[in-house]
Amino acid sequence: MEFEDDDEEEEEEESESSGAGEECTMTTISHHSFDNSFTIQIIENMKEEYGLFVWPCSVVLAEYVWHQGSRFSGAKVVELGAGTSLPGLVAAKLGADVTLTDDSERLEVLENMNRVCELNCIKCKVLGLKWGVWDAPIFTLRPKIILGADVLYDTKAFDDLFATVTFLLENSPGSVFITTYHNRSGHHLIEFLIVKWGLKCTKLLDGFSFMPSSKASKLSGNIQLAEIVLLDKAADHVT
Ligand SMILES: C[S@@+](CC[C@H](N)C(=O)[O-])C[C@H]1O[C@@H](n2cnc3c(N)ncnc32)[C@H](O)[C@@H]1O
Repeated sequence: MEFEDDDEEEEEEESESSGAGEECTMTTISHHSFDNSFTIQIIENMKEEYGLFVWPCSVVLAEYVWHQGSRFSGAKVVELGAGTSLPGLVAAKLGADVTLTDDSERLEVLENMNRVCELNCIKCKVLGLKWGVWDAPIFTLRPKIILGADVLYDTKAFDDLFATVTFLLENSPGSVFITTYHNRSGHHLIEFLIVKWGLKCTKLLDGFSFMPSSKASKLSGNIQLAEIVLLDKAADHVT
C-alpha cells in the first residue's frame, strides 16, 4: 500500500505517551479544504490500522464528491470501508444523509469516525459493516450513492466487498457505487468480479484531472475513479 501525505494546509500534532516501557502513539489532525467553502479536520493515527490514515484515494474521492455537489444534496449515502471518512464527511457537508461504515470488528476505527464527526460538528450515522456479512442493519440502508475509497486493496476481500456492493445496489434500485482505487495487480480480478456479480463499471474522469494542483502535487500512483451499477440498469440506459 502506498502512502502519501494528504492535502494538509497545516497540521497539528499531539503525541500521547502511554507510559514508560509502552509504545508511544502519534495522533495527528490533518486539515482538508474545499475551495474556500469549508475545511474538514481528520484525526489520524500513524501506528494503528489502515482505517486511521487518510489514503490518497480518499482525497481524490472527496474532491470528486465536492465537484458533484448537487448530486449529493439530500441523497442517502453509505460509505464502505470509510476509515477516516473524508468523502462521506464532504457528502454530509453538501446535505447528504450519510452513514459511515467500517469493519464491525475494528472498533478503534469506528470510534475514530465518531470522534471525527464530533470534531467537525457533522451529523452522520456510524455503523459496523463487515463486507460479506448480512447483519440486520444492512437490509434497511437503501442508499442512493455508495462510496468506497481504497477498498479494493486486499484481493482476498474483493469478493466479499462486491457481494455487499451488489446487495446494496439490488436493494436500492437506481443506486450507484462510486469508488477510487489504485490500479494494481488485482485489476484482472476486479474485471472478473464485475462480470461475476452482474455489474457494469464505467471509468470516470482521470482521478487527478479535477484535483486542485495544490492537492494533486502531493499525491502519486495511478488512481482510478469508477462508477459501478447493476448491469440491467446500464442496459436500460442504452435502450
Ligand atoms: C485502505 S483503508 C481505506 C480507508 C479510507 N476509505 C481511506 O481511503 O482513507 C481500507 C478500509 O477498509 C476497511 N476494511 C477492510 N476490510 C474490511 C471488511 N472486510 N469489511 C469492512 N471494512 C473493511 C478497513 O478497516 C479500512 O478502513
